Amino acid sequence: MGNRRAFFYMKTIDLRSDTVSHPTAEMREAMANAVVGDDVYHDDPTVNQLEADAAAMLGKEAAVFVTSGTQGNLCALLAHCQRGDSIIVGDTSHIFRFEQGGVAQIGGILPHTIPVQADATLRLRDIENAIQPDDEHKPITRLVALENTHNAAGGIPLSAEYTAQVARLAQERGLLLHIDGARIFNAAAAFNVDVKELVAGADSVTFCLSKGLCAPAGSVLLGSPDFIRRARRARKALGGSLRQAGVLAAAGLIALHKMKDRLREDHRNAGLLAEGLSEIAQVIVEQQSTNFVYFSLAEDAGMTSEQFVHLLRQEYNVFMSPYGGEKGSIRLRTHYWIDQQAIDTVLAAVRTILT
Ligand SMILES: Cc1ncc(COP(=O)(O)O)c(C=O)c1O
Repeated sequence: MGNRRAFFYMKTIDLRSDTVSHPTAEMREAMANAVVGDDVYHDDPTVNQLEADAAAMLGKEAAVFVTSGTQGNLCALLAHCQRGDSIIVGDTSHIFRFEQGGVAQIGGILPHTIPVQADATLRLRDIENAIQPDDEHKPITRLVALENTHNAAGGIPLSAEYTAQVARLAQERGLLLHIDGARIFNAAAAFNVDVKELVAGADSVTFCLSKGLCAPAGSVLLGSPDFIRRARRARKALGGSLRQAGVLAAAGLIALHKMKDRLREDHRNAGLLAEGLSEIAQVIVEQQSTNFVYFSLAEDAGMTSEQFVHLLRQEYNVFMSPYGGEKGSIRLRTHYWIDQQAIDTVLAAVRTILT
């Protein structure tokens, strides 16, 4: 097992998710000094600024600040759909798998799932086949939802070209297109494109100010002014109208203007982690895309992934997520608080445990 005592870099290194990122000193200062007002009266200048800047940046007409990605997706779907409508979503999408079925639970909306492919796309043919005919036995198919980057597919980004194809199909068939873009800026960084190109054909899009962009909370939902008016009503019904929300929007403005351009660093660090791990004999690197890395342990590692994750945490203050599945995969996500020194420390800790 190597010499663990030689290990003295004991700062917590939390790779479980980019959701564990916390606000920078600049964000904390901006939050302390934020000019605020009652946002339910549209009176909070900092929220208004965030919404205007986000709309301009993503090329949409209007925006609304929401508490989370989950709330943004639900507000969007409630604003687009009637009870009894159906939406076409990926079977491993965040909307379907990880939002408690809020669309069905609260909106009375039927998710019609189709398979998410290994490259995170939905096949156009599958979308076509999921559209219900105009028949009183069937729900009305209202919308198709994409996810960019795709969480469960391993952080894989969807290209502007692919999104445009789905947008074209949706338009031809009279459907709306919503993009769950919780990490859309990671996708823009991965393709080195203006984020506008990735959402050009969408009727609505959400993105998160937390996660890779490091704000403590908040997401933005964007679309047409009429859609945003309906989404604001949904937000109110969901208890998401926050009064002096400028305290959060102040951090959001820094996230939007200063943090998105450094996401490439997170991707590079994920690449370095994957490369370093692949050089360790008992490690099998399964996938790396944007800021996500998945790996598993070879049989001769002599321990389960749960034991390995526990040891890393106990002995080295390195946190990873056991992701499960047949291979006992382990998931890592890089973010602002994971630097080169942290990568070196993690690789040294893994080597020490396994050799
Ligand atoms: C793709 C995707 N959409 C939506 C969300 C929900 O975001 P929140 O945790 O802010 O509700 C997440 C969270 O991880 C996500 O990965």
